Amino acid sequence: MTKVMICIAAMMIMCSMTPCESLADVDRIEVNHLSVTNTLVRVDSDRHYLLLPVQESSDDARINVLVDGNIAETIYVRLAKTKIDYTVPFDLTLYKGKHLSLDILTPQSRSSVREAKDDVCWKDLKLADSFDTDNRERFRPSYHHTPLYGWMNDPNGMFYKDGQWHLYYQYNPYGSKWQNMTWGHSVSSDLVHWTHKPLAIKPNGLGTVFSGSCVVDENNTAGFGKDAVIAMYTSAGTSQMQSLAWSTDNGTTFDIYTGSPTITLESEARDPNMFWNNKTNEWNLVLAHPLDHEMLFLSSHDLKRWTLQSSFGQGTGAQDGIWECPDIFELPVENSDEKKWVLISNINPGGPFGGSATQYFIGNFNGRKFIPDTDADGNVPTKWLDFGKDHYATVSWSNAPEDRRIVIGWMSNWQYAADVPTTQFRSANTLPRDMSLFRAADGQIYASCQPSPETLNLRGAIFSKINRSNIGKKQRSFPLPKANNGICEIVFDIDSRKAEEITITLANNSGEEVPMKYNPQKHTFSFDRTKSGIVDFSENFPATTIAPTFENEGIISIRIFIDRSSIEIFGNDGKFVMTNLIFPEKPYSTISFSSEGGNARLSDMKIYSINAQ
Ligand code: FRU
Repeated sequence: MTKVMICIAAMMIMCSMTPCESLADVDRIEVNHLSVTNTLVRVDSDRHYLLLPVQESSDDARINVLVDGNIAETIYVRLAKTKIDYTVPFDLTLYKGKHLSLDILTPQSRSSVREAKDDVCWKDLKLADSFDTDNRERFRPSYHHTPLYGWMNDPNGMFYKDGQWHLYYQYNPYGSKWQNMTWGHSVSSDLVHWTHKPLAIKPNGLGTVFSGSCVVDENNTAGFGKDAVIAMYTSAGTSQMQSLAWSTDNGTTFDIYTGSPTITLESEARDPNMFWNNKTNEWNLVLAHPLDHEMLFLSSHDLKRWTLQSSFGQGTGAQDGIWECPDIFELPVENSDEKKWVLISNINPGGPFGGSATQYFIGNFNGRKFIPDTDADGNVPTKWLDFGKDHYATVSWSNAPEDRRIVIGWMSNWQYAADVPTTQFRSANTLPRDMSLFRAADGQIYASCQPSPETLNLRGAIFSKINRSNIGKKQRSFPLPKANNGICEIVFDIDSRKAEEITITLANNSGEEVPMKYNPQKHTFSFDRTKSGIVDFSENFPATTIAPTFENEGIISIRIFIDRSSIEIFGNDGKFVMTNLIFPEKPYSTISFSSEGGNARLSDMKIYSINAQ
């Protein structure tokens, strides 16, 4: 019998037992309902994808992917019950030539199989050779890194090698809400134009793939080869353990080290961040001990065997949330010969404006222990890297050239990340930021974050230029570019030595606006998004955020990046930074300035168009 005949014969037998709902030449999807909650879908096709219909309000169905009768992977998908919000692609090419079936356990409680069969997903399972990921959603950023589709949270494992910046990220390839954590992967030669690559690390029997880091093993300490890229991440199964993976093709594909997990502890620990310590000539690792609100420090000679050295954090800094996604590195302090260590500790909730945020500590680290700097009263001050609501899980690139320390964050907040009004994708990264240290007037050392110089590559033509303008009580407005949904960069200086408060407002003609206030007496800069556009998807979204400006003469310089659903503000060469999402019904079309308590002067304003990507 030929293959086709076997198929048809088999189909006839099965069809006599359960109806077959779709059949097309060699492309075959058979849907067999086995019980109220169990459906077996057999797929026989040379096509690239099986498109799975998703309804976000459904609960997750558990899908065991059976290949020649063995479970190859398990994924969770919110299969559509009554309406299809979007589809997600399941890649069939990985299983070409094999017998593939999906053993699906749906959570919906139904009274009968007949009722379960009515779920819309069964009729709309489709085979396809392509999957549309065109950047059409109005809130999809143009020049910030986003996944092609699906959910993204933390940036992971970033490293630089051979002229390429690698960015991995917490990714759900099967929906726009958190699930199925996998390392997605993108590369860039300039930190602002990104190319999407195939999934880098997928879940295995140890669990899904949570956050972690990568290093380039120049001296082959781990034995996977000189310059192998080594990743360490958290395997999130029944418990959290740390696993090692290695790549000899510059981070495109990884093999999971068979000795994984390499670190097991008796309590939850995650997000390992490793680095080579030049001073001690060994590897160090900082690991979050989230529920204890502390970070653990470990050391190793081969990246495989690790010794726990110390912990830092309990009772220190912001403590109102779990500590996650650490990073640690040394930086010079501007205008001095001093160098200091920066320990990043992302915290959720407990951020200054609710929800998640990035705190950091300045101190010393000897490869064994982190000792934080204290203030004049002997306390360890709490410091924040960004004063917006949408900046989390910030970590840095390893192996960056010229001693640069470049950080990038997840541009959202755990309070509402899953509810923001986007569909085919959720979340973007911040712009890359070059970090440095400065000593402020209070004697403390703080971090500053400037947009990485590569962001200049984004600039298109100058849309308008104002050399100098007096600002008084009456609002002065300037138009913003309309092209590409108003994406732009705005730079200006304000001299407010004779004024009490300057208001800078971004607005559209639908009454949506973002007033920002600079108060030179209080040295603060605030951002109010309560009327910024769509804000009602979460009670935690409408908010005013406020930053210390670290200036003392009433003169500030501001750089604003607008990208459809985000605004990033860099003040005084990055001494304060503020990242906030916004969802205006229409792009903001003007920027206006007014001043209370005396006149101020606006100077050197340039509004740059940005070339859409
Ligand atoms: C932080 C975090 C990490 C974890 C990851 C899971 O946002 O909770 O601690 O590794 O997300 O996606």
